[in-house]
Amino acid sequence: MTFPVIGVVGGGQLARMMAPAAVALGFDLRILAEAPDVCAVPAVAQAPVGDYKNLETLREFARGVDVLTFDHEHVPSEHLQALIADGVNVQPRPDALINAQDKLVMRAAIERLGLPNPAWAAVASVADIAAFGETHGWPVVLKMPRGGYDGKGVKVLRSADDATAAADWFEAMSPLLVEEMVDFSRELSALVARTPSGESRAWPVAESIQVDGVCDEVIAPAPNIPAEVAEAAAAAALRIANELGVTGVMAAELFETPGRAPGFLVNELAMRPHNTGHWTMDGALTGQFEQHLRAVLDLPLGATDALGSIVVMKNFLGGANLDLFSAYAAALAAEPTVKVHSYGKSVRPGRKIGHVNVIASKNDDVTAARARATTVANIIRDGK
Ligand SMILES: Nc1ncnc2c1ncn2[C@@H]1O[C@H](COP(=O)(O)OP(=O)(O)O)[C@@H](O)[C@H]1O
Ligand SMILES: [Mg+2]
Repeated sequence: MTFPVIGVVGGGQLARMMAPAAVALGFDLRILAEAPDVCAVPAVAQAPVGDYKNLETLREFARGVDVLTFDHEHVPSEHLQALIADGVNVQPRPDALINAQDKLVMRAAIERLGLPNPAWAAVASVADIAAFGETHGWPVVLKMPRGGYDGKGVKVLRSADDATAAADWFEAMSPLLVEEMVDFSRELSALVARTPSGESRAWPVAESIQVDGVCDEVIAPAPNIPAEVAEAAAAAALRIANELGVTGVMAAELFETPGRAPGFLVNELAMRPHNTGHWTMDGALTGQFEQHLRAVLDLPLGATDALGSIVVMKNFLGGANLDLFSAYAAALAAEPTVKVHSYGKSVRPGRKIGHVNVIASKNDDVTAARARATTVANIIRDGK
């Protein structure tokens, strides 16, 4: 057998959704699972349980894999450096990954590349935040540089008084990142993939809608986006991937800022398949999970064209329905064109447990496609 073995650190839904792509291509996908019951485990043949913060555990897992990649960005850099010293093929490499692990490192890198950042500063005290607010205006956005996700680790401060209330964050971490509160028209996602040899491809730039800091809906391509903004955003993401040496899939989260050249600012980077790229699973010639596997194996990348004029992805979070399958008959009957992706997770309020994709037909408008996706997602969430 000459098919490659891919080791994925982390057993969440992203690792789980790599499995069908691996099966289709004949690859052997293995997961280093945080616990026996994480949702990627039933999707693969081998899923040892272990702590990704333990170097010996990582070493043991990496033995016999052709490439090591990730479901999340939390593996410590020094462990990845040690694995590379052992001869393990780690993709993406830690010097690229650090830009997705640490928002201060990322802001400095974006600045170095001459790409558009919001006003930002590293702050080590409440007085530093107050000074930033006086210079750039209130409100400001305070962020934990490391460890945040789904809006946890992001705080809007309306005034110097709020800054005082943020003092407890400095006990957890210092310095923190402070940013101007960007007056954006919407959020965009520029999704790309790059191989170690340097081939790269971008998917059409999408619009993403967050609710309470959590990605709720994605529309691809971003409706009515000016062609020059879409091109510049995709070019910026490709440049980031190339210059930082990113491998695999990378999402650049952007703020669209009409009237403020070049029409967008960089928010943050993710170096793995991303929620804003789930639309590609059914809506693009090559989905992000297949592309990630191809990229980390240094294989030629697939075409990224959208398969419909509009593709809508809608997440469903845990709600009233505790038995998701009991709602499938009604959900699938409501919209035969919808594709359902369930993550095999137990239902807890507000927990991301699945998404649906809708590929709009030629004469469907954005509103109709969004309504179709929402109808199905709500039936599954509510059970009716
Ligand atoms: N500087 C900012 N100005 C306005 N809104 C922001 C700013 N930074 C973040 N946000 C909002 O908060 C959300 C979460 O922030 P982000 O830095 O992406 O953190 P996370 O790592 O939790 O995704 C963003 O998607 C956006 O809606
Ligand atoms: Mg984000």
